Amino acid sequence: MVDFTLTDEQKDLRELAHNFAEKEIRPVAWEYDKEGTWPQEIIDKAWEVGLMNTHTPEAYGGPGLDYLSGCLIEEEFGWGCSGIGTSLAANGLASAPVAIGGTEETKKKYLGMLIEEPKLASFCLTEPDAGSDVSGMKTRAVKKGDKYILNGSKCFITNGGYADWFTVYAKTDPDQGHRGISAFVVDGKQDNVTVDKKEDKMGQRASNTATITFDEVEVPAENLLGEENHGFKLAMMTLDRTRPGVAAMAVGIARAAFEFASEYSKERVQFGVPIAMHQAIQFLIADMATKVDAGRLLTWLSAVQLDQGKRNTLACSEAKRFAADSAMEVTTDAVQVYGGYGFIKEYPVEKLMRDAKIMQLYEGTSQIQRLVIAREVLLPRTIEETIPEAEAKGREADQKVAETAPAAA
Ligand code: CAA
Repeated sequence: MVDFTLTDEQKDLRELAHNFAEKEIRPVAWEYDKEGTWPQEIIDKAWEVGLMNTHTPEAYGGPGLDYLSGCLIEEEFGWGCSGIGTSLAANGLASAPVAIGGTEETKKKYLGMLIEEPKLASFCLTEPDAGSDVSGMKTRAVKKGDKYILNGSKCFITNGGYADWFTVYAKTDPDQGHRGISAFVVDGKQDNVTVDKKEDKMGQRASNTATITFDEVEVPAENLLGEENHGFKLAMMTLDRTRPGVAAMAVGIARAAFEFASEYSKERVQFGVPIAMHQAIQFLIADMATKVDAGRLLTWLSAVQLDQGKRNTLACSEAKRFAADSAMEVTTDAVQVYGGYGFIKEYPVEKLMRDAKIMQLYEGTSQIQRLVIAREVLLPRTIEETIPEAEAKGREADQKVAETAPAAA
């Protein structure tokens, strides 16, 4: 049986996130976008009401929410403002490799830090010459006694300028391609970790995107995540867990654009009737509604598979690809419905169109998602994965929640 009914707990969470987006995010979103304002007070409030670090297991002080609940929250963040939403959600990306591969001590220290105070952490994978091609990274970690010495530069790092710690990927065996990459937790507040550049972006301007340089940084060997030279796999497993949330955020952007365009089409009169009476506009609105709903269904499927302990690589790439491309299409069509006014900053939809663009780029471009989808359908392979023991242990206490997640497929 397929049942899309949310539990009462999930409905309450969605309402909490929606009210937060409506009262705390929306009223300032366009102003923050204009100035590129860092939303610290919104981060503090979201942390206070429990809308951050949602997947941190109860064993480390977090709420240990299921992945579907995370998607419900991220759709509302995207609806409110995806720039601010990205700032609120990015701890999840940095935390996932720690939850999967960290030692008990590492998890207590670093996951716990985010729960105790409204602190931030960033995921450092991308480099100037290694974007889609993760294996091309040049950052090096060399083991010396009980430490690794880290050197390199990471770019496009979300929340990088404000992070207290980083999950950093570096080559530990440069001759082994993707099998020579390891992941580490690195303290952010030390002299030889520097924030070099804050990007001035087209959209999601309230989020912070920085370049971080690591210069002879000493990393304790116990901060290695998982096994040495297994970092690539850890990165892929992390993205499988976070792409559903990115897809949900894209659905939220599309839903916001659809709602603005629908309302406007009922008010704007041309040729003597509201433009919603013209079939040309109705068809645009109909396609928007369909893309929002279809994107959400794929997103929920990719999250529910995770909650069931299944590898969701295909579903999350399909969800992320479709929801991101749909968000771009829906926001572009919303501008079209507004006509010339859509192009003006005084009206809400041009921001949504600018914000939507990054959804097709970060956490794997739409082209990379297609590559993953094609591989999964043409050459399906068995990857030893599901929820590994280390993560399952942390989530044991949360099984009750996970079991109540509706089975979408
Ligand atoms: N789960 C577990 N293991 C996986 C996996 C998965 N989903 N996908 C691949 N692997 C394993 C494979 O089994 C293989 O293992 P072996 O070494 O045992 O053979 C290994 O990883 C290599 O897999 P591939 O052969 O598929 O690797 P590839 O190099 O050919 O392709 C790729 C990989 C899909 C192109 C990948 O590099 C990729 O996803 N690139 C995009 C990177 C990305 O999303 N970057 C965004 C950065 S995050 C961000 O945007 C941050 C922000 O702040 C917003």
